[in-house]
Amino acid sequence: MLTALRPVGNYFRYDPKPLDKNLFSPFTFQGYQSGTAALAAALMLAKKKRPEVINPEVILPGYSCPDLLSACKYAGVNVKFVDFEQNLPWMSLSEIESRISSSTIAIVAVNFLGIPERIEQISNRVKSANLLIIEDSAQGFTTGSYSDYWKGDVVTLSFGRGKPLSLFGGGATLCRNQELASLLPNFDNEESDGGLSFRSKNLVFKTLSSPLCYFWLTKLPFLGLGSTEYKPLENLTKLPQDVASQIVSSVEQLRAKLANLKRVAENYRSIEKDYIINLPQTTNTSENSVLLRYPLLITDDSKRDKLFNELASSGLGVSQMYERIIIDIDNIPQEILVDKPDLPNARQFARQLVTLPNHFGTRVEHTRKIKKIMMEKD
Ligand SMILES: Cc1ncc(COP(=O)(O)O)c(C=O)c1O
Repeated sequence: MLTALRPVGNYFRYDPKPLDKNLFSPFTFQGYQSGTAALAAALMLAKKKRPEVINPEVILPGYSCPDLLSACKYAGVNVKFVDFEQNLPWMSLSEIESRISSSTIAIVAVNFLGIPERIEQISNRVKSANLLIIEDSAQGFTTGSYSDYWKGDVVTLSFGRGKPLSLFGGGATLCRNQELASLLPNFDNEESDGGLSFRSKNLVFKTLSSPLCYFWLTKLPFLGLGSTEYKPLENLTKLPQDVASQIVSSVEQLRAKLANLKRVAENYRSIEKDYIINLPQTTNTSENSVLLRYPLLITDDSKRDKLFNELASSGLGVSQMYERIIIDIDNIPQEILVDKPDLPNARQFARQLVTLPNHFGTRVEHTRKIKKIMMEKD
């Protein structure tokens, strides 16, 4: 299929600079080979912090990326899912409270497409429980104050597949203090698999990012633009050096493009229909944070199917994301699930979600075309 706009992937100019380990201050920085590995490391830290717990459990949102389960399986923790609040990408606060037990060692609070979880409210509810709040910020980033944006005890980042700092691989675990950082696991292997360098992948990505070539871009496994599936995590390895040396300049490049990304989101925000729900935006959390994609809920099933088909065939990079809650994804490790709750709000959210592109390649004319289709269809 030819398409006019790729769905994801900011293109960053190759510009290596030494990685300053204080870049994310006040948080410490430890790189890993992926966001999944970074999350596994955070969960292992949580386990080490509570050695008395025999069968440690963690709380996860019912709707998210299946890589969360890969990290849990690798870290050796069991999982309890929590439902969303209705029509929101946030875990139900009352359910979190009712699901935690003396075996709960951590809550994974996921930033959804740049919309942070309500970490302060979660913390207040679970104060007495001696558990770690891990903020999975694979999809969220700010070019402003890190301490204003991230509220977790430990924060995990991804530099992979279409993330805010999209560098074709890598991840990091940021800790609020040295004491936590000292509990992070070492690497199983010092080196990653020695595949193509950032520079080579970037060149291929740039060449194939034109509308006529996007089809081929989706076929390249190292760019990771494939479908949602469960992939086990095999080991923990280092953040590749070439990715590490691209982080500083990529943050600068993202900062320079922020106004454009905000303009795109602003254009989408004016799409109004009685069956369309706009999710809460990041503007009240941080002036400088970006939305990875622009999320909308379309509450009318028949209208959504018609609209989505039309948007998809227009090739404008519109996507329904995972479409399912995590427990409905094939081949997940059932043995680590404590139970299989119903999760009606997360299920409804998965069905109703439509996301619109918001990356460096998104232009005003793309947003106008998308808006026209959405406003005219009834
Ligand atoms: C919320 C979330 N966490 C973790 C990950 C895993 O990141 P990586 O692909 O770098 O392993 C992803 C990837 O899509 C994600 O969306």
